[in-house]
This record gives sequence, C-alpha cells and structure tokens, in this order.
Amino acid sequence: MREGHEGTGPGAITPDGCAVELYARLPVADEPDVIAAAVPAGVRILELGSGVGRMTHALLERGFEVTAVDESAEMLERVRGARTICGPIEGLDLGETFDVVLLASFLVHAGDVEVRRGLLRTCVRHLAKGGCVLIQREGEDYHTDVPRERVDPAGFTVRIVSAEPVGDGVDSVHAEYVFPDATWTQTFRARPLTREQFEEALAETGLTVDRYLTEDRMWVRAVPMSDT
Ligand SMILES: C[S@@+](CC[C@H](N)C(=O)[O-])C[C@H]1O[C@@H](n2cnc3c(N)ncnc32)[C@H](O)[C@@H]1O
Repeated sequence: MREGHEGTGPGAITPDGCAVELYARLPVADEPDVIAAAVPAGVRILELGSGVGRMTHALLERGFEVTAVDESAEMLERVRGARTICGPIEGLDLGETFDVVLLASFLVHAGDVEVRRGLLRTCVRHLAKGGCVLIQREGEDYHTDVPRERVDPAGFTVRIVSAEPVGDGVDSVHAEYVFPDATWTQTFRARPLTREQFEEALAETGLTVDRYLTEDRMWVRAVPMSDT
C-alpha cells in the first residue's frame, strides 16, 4: 500500500486504495468526449493509471489505439482490447512514444512531490514530436467543499467525507461510494494545487499549458515548452 492510502470494501484493493470491483461498476462520464475533442482521430494514446479500463474501453470504441498502464494487475485483468503494461508509472520507460499521453483521475495531485515529478517525467519521456499530454486536475473547491455528496443516476452515492491536512500542504481525503448492496471507502493523500502551482509543476518537467479544455479548467492540454 502507498503511504497514507487505504481502501475498504469487497474485492481487491490497489496500492493507492482503489477498489477494483468499485471501478468495474463506475460508469464513464464525459471524459472520452473531452479527450476525443482535443486530439486527432485514431491516434495512439498512452493511458497512465487506466484502472479496469473505464475510459480505455470508450476510447477504443471511438477508434483510438490505447496502451493502458497500471500498477494493479487485478485492475488490468479487466481491460479488454488494449495492450496492458503493469507497473508504477513513475519508473515507466517503454522506449517508444505516443501521440497522446493521458494522466487523468487527479494523479497529478500526488501528495509526494517526487512521485508527481516522476509521473510528469513519464508523460514527457513517452511523448512523440508534436504530441500532447492530457491531464485531469481536481476542481477548485475539491478540498474545501467538504463534506459533500453526489447521487449518481446509475444508483449510487459518492461522498467526499473529509479532507484533513497532514502537513507539507497535503490533505488526507476520505471518500465513500455507497451502492444498495455494497460500500467502498478510499483514503488517500492529495496535494491541492492552485492554477499557478499546477502550471509551475508542469514547467518543472518542461511542459506548458496549451489550453484548458473545459470551463472548470479540470482538463488540460499540455505540450513541451520546446514545441511552442
Ligand atoms: C482512481 S483510479 C482511476 C482509474 C481510471 N483512470 C478511471 O478513471 O476509471 C486510479 C488508478 O491508477 C492506478 N495508479 C495510481 N497511482 C499509480 C502509479 N503511481 N503507478 C501506476 N498506477 C497507479 C491505481 O492502481 C488505479 O487503478
């Protein structure tokens, strides 16, 4: 288990506290539409932290070629139709490049700054000339608007119960996913990043914002500074 991360509920739990059975149930939202609108049709995508393939499968259906990376073999077992690579993103070096590298699910908010640098360096290392990195950030009030809950039309409730400081600008976030027949929880470390801090983190690894893709600025298209 990664430090400060844990999960409860039925089935396997990943090192960052995610439940495999939970992610197998979560419906995909508008993420594939946001991605498809930001990149050319049919390109090769390296998806970092793919989980069970919630987004992977929708991207494959849209005609993209996806390589899915995750450190959980149990998550990757559920991925269909994509090449899968099991291991930590931080150390990944496939010796090849992709038109698009996808770093979604707020992974850029890793509590450990070295882990975050590792994630972003992996993005840069695998980027083809002229390619882009698509990043999903937390919403602005992610750590302050707590507790909060959302009832999903698919019949479950997501609660962000608390976000408590644990030092060095990092919060311990506790989330609950309540289904009629099962409940999962996840506790994880996350570092809030203002827009400025986020852009500084990109700059550290030679990336810059090309444009924010959504009004809430949660989705970002980043490119190497040398390409601008
Ligand atoms: C919150 S889940 C999201 C999964 C998927 N992106 C989705 O939206 O359904 C995060 C996934 O990233 C994986 N993960 C988190 N940190 C990782 C790391 N540093 N290296 C490899 N996998 C990681 C976890 O195992 C988990 O499957």
